Amino acid sequence: MTSSGDDATDKRRTAVRVVRGGPVLVEGPVDIELPDGCHVQSDRFMVAICACGRSKNYPLCDTSHRKRRRRSAD
Ligand code: FES
Repeated sequence: MTSSGDDATDKRRTAVRVVRGGPVLVEGPVDIELPDGCHVQSDRFMVAICACGRSKNYPLCDTSHRKRRRRSAD
């Protein structure tokens, strides 16, 4: 699904890409506001925001989403 506005709107539009099972990629720099009001900033050109909740560097992705979960012994 694609939607397009006028040229000026398209130039201001921030590109965001959702990775299935992984992070949300956002063009940086970004200022991320957390639910508690804290802010996390990143100056990287592309910022991976954790969408799985397993990152030890939350809200930034640390690739923990790639790690397999152990099955519990039955
Ligand atoms: S999406 Fe990568 S650690 Fe959560």
